[in-house]
Amino acid sequence: DADDKFVLELPKVELHVHIEGTLTPELRWELAKRNGQTLKLERTETVYTSLEQLRASYTIMEPRPGHSIDNAEESFTFFEAYYGGFEVLVTEQDFFDLAMNYFRRAASMNVRYCEPFFDPQGHTRRGVSWATMMGGFRRAQQEAEKSLGIKSNWIMCFLRDLPVESAMEHYQAVLPYRDMVVGIGLDSDETNRPPSLFADIFALARQAGFRLTCHCDVGQPTTHENIRQVASVLGGSGAERLDHGLNAAQSQELIQLIKKNGVGMTITPWGYLRHQPVNEIFPRIRTLFDAGIPTAIGSDDPPYMEDCWIIHHLLLAKKMCVFTDHDMATLARRSVDMSWASESTRAEIR
Ligand code: HPA
Ligand code: ZN
Repeated sequence: DADDKFVLELPKVELHVHIEGTLTPELRWELAKRNGQTLKLERTETVYTSLEQLRASYTIMEPRPGHSIDNAEESFTFFEAYYGGFEVLVTEQDFFDLAMNYFRRAASMNVRYCEPFFDPQGHTRRGVSWATMMGGFRRAQQEAEKSLGIKSNWIMCFLRDLPVESAMEHYQAVLPYRDMVVGIGLDSDETNRPPSLFADIFALARQAGFRLTCHCDVGQPTTHENIRQVASVLGGSGAERLDHGLNAAQSQELIQLIKKNGVGMTITPWGYLRHQPVNEIFPRIRTLFDAGIPTAIGSDDPPYMEDCWIIHHLLLAKKMCVFTDHDMATLARRSVDMSWASESTRAEIR
């Protein structure tokens, strides 16, 4: 309807999307065929013999606090599904196709600029070379700019559930790709892996001119302490952005800290429905917005979240937070301000 049209047509920047998290079942099926692979979920030894079955595997059943799952042995976590998808990314062309598939979709929603996350450790540990991975991503970056008019700067994330030494090796290995990689982030399973473990690498990265961000997932019992670390400690004096961190809205102290340090937040509302009740999620987003904290709506891992791309996250936020069109334009403008695009690119989209 008319509401949707305004949001659809808004020029957008996307600041929270995992490029590997945009792998659709259709593309995964196609790449597996091309690479002669059998598609399976390792732990349960489930083999997917049709695209339909593979599609169904994107419906993740994860226990959330206070809820149990009836058929627990058939359930799997988001991370199992997500890293399972990595297996089909083998050749330079696979990485190119993955990224272009996202960029084409983004262009159709009027995304004009993007900062995709990528997880190199999830590829090097399977024996994929940096040249293969970055070659495909770089070619997609160039092709998206040329044929779709979407510029991008990329954010390398460390997998926080792997050893700090591995993160350091990958930090060194990304240096030759500096012109493409604007920032460093931290993602994957946050359980018992606070941001402070990576303080030294983040400090090094900041000195080298990288921009810094870090995931603080909702549904984590340690979330307030981790948010505090991101906003005030990481990289020396705090990261510039916080991915998720929604529970900061429960704490006036954290809200003030985030504001004082000028931290921007990326928010992906559909994903939170798996972990939190509706009446906690949307009032918190509204609180952050009303506090004047720059918040950018992103899409995280669309096919793994009921196929919700940025437009769906925006429309959900609009409806549930009762944002006006004017508010949506404010959100969009703040997202541009939060981005790590060059001044000239910002001027083009703003
Ligand atoms: N949380 C943490 N790490 C991730 C996610 C997520 O939702 N998606 C991809 N890596
Ligand atoms: Zn994320």
